[in-house]
Parts: sequence; C-alpha cells; structure tokens
Amino acid sequence: MSIQDELTTTIQDLVQPGKGILAADESHPTIAKRFKAVDVESTEENRREYRSLILSAPGLGDFISGVILFEETLGQNSLDEVPIPKLLESQGIVPGIKVDKGKKPLINAPGDEITFGLDGLDDRLEIYKNAGARFAKWRDVFHISDTLPSRQAIEANAEMLARYAAVCQSMGIVPIVEPEVLIDGNHSMERCAQVSEAVLREVFLALYRHGIELETMILKPSMVTPGKECPKASPEEVAEATIKVFRRSVPAAVPGINFLSGGQTPEEATLNLNAINSEGVQPWELSFSYGRALQEPAQKAWAGHLENGPAAQEAMLKRARLNSAARWGTYTP
Ligand code: 13P
Repeated sequence: MSIQDELTTTIQDLVQPGKGILAADESHPTIAKRFKAVDVESTEENRREYRSLILSAPGLGDFISGVILFEETLGQNSLDEVPIPKLLESQGIVPGIKVDKGKKPLINAPGDEITFGLDGLDDRLEIYKNAGARFAKWRDVFHISDTLPSRQAIEANAEMLARYAAVCQSMGIVPIVEPEVLIDGNHSMERCAQVSEAVLREVFLALYRHGIELETMILKPSMVTPGKECPKASPEEVAEATIKVFRRSVPAAVPGINFLSGGQTPEEATLNLNAINSEGVQPWELSFSYGRALQEPAQKAWAGHLENGPAAQEAMLKRARLNSAARWGTYTP
C-alpha cells in the first residue's frame, strides 16, 4: 500500500460515526499514580494484566475505533498470549502509539514547558510500525495564568507538534496532534477560550508551514472550561464556548476532533461531549480520546485482582457505550 493509501485507510478507520479513541498510553509514572489510587503496585505484570483485560472486553470495537498504547504495551502479549496489537486488530480497533518523550521546563520562559522527542523519531516510528502501530500521538501542554503561556511557549510547542506530524505522515502514520491547555488554576472560562484560540491558531499555522495534510490528521484538544479551582460551567456553556473557539481556529478539512478528558470526571466528560454534539452541524466529527474518563471505573473495579476481570471489562464497556451515545448527542444520564 502507498503511504497515501495507508494514511487514508487509517483515518477512515479511526474517524467513524459513533466511535472514539481510548487513550491507554500512560507513562510509567502516570500509570503508577493511577494504580496507587486503587492500591495496586505498578509492576510490568500488573500493567499487562490490567491493559490486557480492558482491551479484550468483548465488543469494545463497537464503540472504540483506536487505542493509543504506551511503548511497553505495544510489545506485550495479552493474558491469552496474543500480541496486543493483534488483539486490537481482532477487535476491529486500530493500534496507535504515544511517541513524545514527555515535557521539561522551557528555558528562559519561567512556568512554561516544552515537549521532547523529535530526535530519532523516524527510527522509532519504523519500529512501532513494524510492531503494528498505524497512528501516533504527541502531547504538548500549556499552563494558564494571567501571563502564561508566553508567546515563546505557544510558538515553540506548535513548531514541535508540526514537525512531529510531518515525520508521521511521511511514514504513513496518522498523527494525533494534542495541544492540551491545562485545566489547573483559577482562571475564567473566557481566559481559557482566549488561550485555546491563540494556541490552536498557532498550531494550525505551524502545521501549514510544515505542509501537513489536514485531511489525514486528528486534533486532540482540551475543552474550553473554567479552571479547576472555579465553580464548574454547565455542559451547555462548555459546549458553546468550545464550539465558538473551534469554529474560529480549526480548518474544516480536519476530519476529527477527539477531545481529551483532562481531569474531568467520567460523567462530566460524557455530559460535555454530549452537549458539544448537540450544538448543531459542524464541519468535523466531534469525538473523544479519553484516558481517565474512560478508565477510572474499570481501574476501580479491577483493583489488582484477576477475578475482577469481568467487572473491569463491564465498567470499561459502559463508559465506552455512554461516550458513543454522546457522539450522537443522545446520552441521557
Ligand atoms: P485524559 O483523557 O486522562 O486527559 O488523557 C488523555 C491523554 O491521552 C492525555 O495525553
């Protein structure tokens, strides 16, 4: 298959009506934090058991079109000794891989951060592709305060995302472009909208500069909400503010916008997505690429015990099914 055919086929498989993406690509420190919350030690075997359980939930592919994996999981076998990428393909789900190497402070920009991982990215993608990955994810983060993020952080991170996306597309891998505007803080929803618009405009400028084919990428953004320390906005308010920003800054050629959950509760994330999909017809598919909001109940149900596997799978399927309903705007609590 040509590179272009690979990109086109993968984007069609990922952006399907009623389906979304499961982010199961927590780095070692992050999964350790999630496991600690349910009193489980993060060992390689525990990670394999948990991820194998949720990814083999029967019928997961009815609601989930793609799963983002962490490098370790891409090379692991399921509990039935099937390579995880093969297990996903057998569920009708596209395997993907997180490829950024995390973030560090941005020099000369106090409070801002920059994401690393471009060096050797083509060599790593070659290995991941041979292991079965067909799409990738790179996450940038932007902190909000009265003065953050700086212009420098917005431009530097946008440039990184665009260069990552260019390498991916040159190798037939669909890039998920994730600029996350963090929910931490006491900022207003208006301030979040202002920062989100500035970030998105810069990201798409950089994507254009680097010749990215918008038709074969996915945008993974945060929703426009007030800061975590403020009273919550209603789903309708979140939907209205989010759609307004996106209509201003995301070209219609982008096929899918798959939101991250970014610290929203599972219920909130579903309600907000449902409201977003109730705002009328938009140029893009509006879907999910949730980590915590899809997995939290499954992690609680599992709690490190294999015999809780069926309960964990049921919890996983439930969140996937409800978010699938939210894709149609037909979710009722
Ligand atoms: P959350 O939905 O938990 O924010 O995770 C999504 C993700 O992949 C962040 O990179």
